[in-house]
Amino acid sequence: VQEILGENSIANRFISQLRDTSIQNDRMRFRRNIERLGEIMAYELSKELEYETAEINTPLGKSKVPMPKNELVICSILRAGLPLHQGILNYFDDAENSFISAYRHHPDNDENFEILVEYLASPSLEGKTLILADPMLATGRSFSNVLKALEPMGKPARIHLVSVIGSYEGVEYLKTEFPENSKLWITTIDHELDKNGYIVPGLGDAGDLCYG
Ligand code: PRP
Repeated sequence: VQEILGENSIANRFISQLRDTSIQNDRMRFRRNIERLGEIMAYELSKELEYETAEINTPLGKSKVPMPKNELVICSILRAGLPLHQGILNYFDDAENSFISAYRHHPDNDENFEILVEYLASPSLEGKTLILADPMLATGRSFSNVLKALEPMGKPARIHLVSVIGSYEGVEYLKTEFPENSKLWITTIDHELDKNGYIVPGLGDAGDLCYG
């Protein structure tokens, strides 16, 4: 697990605007802040990819540069994963892309819910580096259900989970659900999960704040 906000950086401003009730209803800013955090985390995780040296021709000579060689697939969990997905894709130009739905279904209209996965479009994941994006990690059940739903697409060589706000409970749960070759990149982890499975203080419902 790597927390990005454990240090002083401009990412703190973006996350505080996501949380702040006097600002967060500006939908365009909310989406853009999630996208910007996706860009920051894409940059951080790019340092852990595998590189090979390529030689390029400049107008005046040749230059050797390390180029990432992983085959990347970015998979976002609808809906709130979309702006985070775009932020990651802004830095990984050639990545393949998957989209999957996961939502909380309350069959008895009470606090009990199940996670339903109803839509999946994905290339093969066999031997590739999978980046799973969802800004909220509350109970962790969306991430774990999505991982199961992706199984028929093949076994990734490496998995990076990218999220914005998590709960300690959710992070601990994911450690039991995800294989050893996985790493979670997250801006910040909050202490509480209430009886409805919402992160406290958190930021509210990211899907609604992004898209209404
Ligand atoms: C929210 C959020 C995550 C999930 C996190 O989605 O965007 O996908 O809940 O909760 P979990 O860790 O307990 O599974 P929501 O069901 O509100 O869907 P939406 O993004 O379409 O609004």
